[in-house]
Amino acid sequence: MVSPKQLFPLPRASASPEILIFGDPHGDFTPVIAAVECFRPKAIVLLGDIQARQPLHIELQPILALTELWFIHGNHDTDSDADYDNLWGSELAGRNLHGRVVEIAGYRVAGLGGIFRGKIWDPRRPINEAACVSADALRRSTRREERWRDGIGRRHRSTIFPDDFQQLLRSGPANILVTHEAPAVHPHGWQAIDELAETLGVQLVVHGHHHQSIDYLAEGMQSAAAPFRAFGVDMGSHLAWPLDPQRETRLGSPPQDLLELATQVFGAEAQVWLDKPHEQLDGQTPAALAAGGGSEKVRSMLNAIQYGGVV
Ligand SMILES: [Fe+2]
Repeated sequence: MVSPKQLFPLPRASASPEILIFGDPHGDFTPVIAAVECFRPKAIVLLGDIQARQPLHIELQPILALTELWFIHGNHDTDSDADYDNLWGSELAGRNLHGRVVEIAGYRVAGLGGIFRGKIWDPRRPINEAACVSADALRRSTRREERWRDGIGRRHRSTIFPDDFQQLLRSGPANILVTHEAPAVHPHGWQAIDELAETLGVQLVVHGHHHQSIDYLAEGMQSAAAPFRAFGVDMGSHLAWPLDPQRETRLGSPPQDLLELATQVFGAEAQVWLDKPHEQLDGQTPAALAAGGGSEKVRSMLNAIQYGGVV
C-alpha cells in the first residue's frame, strides 16, 4: 500500500499563506516538508515535541532555502540526550521562540515552549509560591553530582519557569502567541496562557501538545467576543495564517481536519472538490454534506481516493 505521505509533494497552492504553524512532529517531518513545498509560506513555526532523529537542520534541509523556520520546544524534547541534542545542538537552535517575541513574516510572534511542572511552579498558584523562580536558581540548588552537563537536569530544560513566563509577559505587544501548553478553553489548558495572551494583546493563540486539531470558535467552545482566537494543531497537521477569509465566512464549513485531508488528496484543488456536487451524494457537495453532519462519509471518500479505492 502506498503511504499517503508518499503522495507528496502536492501541487502548489495558488495563494501563499504567510505562516504555517505545525503540530508536534515527534520525529516525522514529511508533512512539514510536503506542506512547505506545496504552499511556500514565508515562515513556519513548529509547536514543540520535535524529537528530530538527526540534527533539525539536517531533517529540514530540503526546505531551509524555501522558508524561514522557527519553533518552540515541547516536553518530549528533553526525553533523551538525542532528543535534546538534535534540537538545542542543531544549527537551528537559535530559532527557538521560547520566552521572547520575534517579528516573523510581518507579525510579532510570542513563544512559550515547554510545560508547567508543579515541582517548579503550578501557575494556578501565585508566582511567589513557586518552588523555583528560574533555571539559574534551580541550578544553584542542585548538587554538582546531580547536575546534567553542569546545569539543571535535562527534564527541567522543558519546564516553564516563572522568570521565563514573566519575561515574556513584559515583551509585548504581539500579534500571535504559540505555546506547547493549551489555553484555558482546552480541558487540560491553563488560565495562565489566557492571561499571557491578553497581556500581550494577541489575536491568535495556537497550541500543540494535545494532538488534536481544533478550532475552538467553530466548535462552540469559544465566544466570538473572546479577546483572541484559539486553535489546537495535531501532529501531521498545520494551521495557515492568516485564516482564509472565504473559509471563515462560509457558514457551516467542514471541520479543519477534513479540509486538511482534502488538501492532502487534491492539493490546491481541495476546495474545488469540496464545493462540487457529487453524484454519489445525490448531487450534494462534499462540503455541504460534511457541514450537515456527514463528515465521516466525506472522510471515507477521501481515504478511498487517496488509497486508490473505489469511490
Ligand atoms: Fe507535549
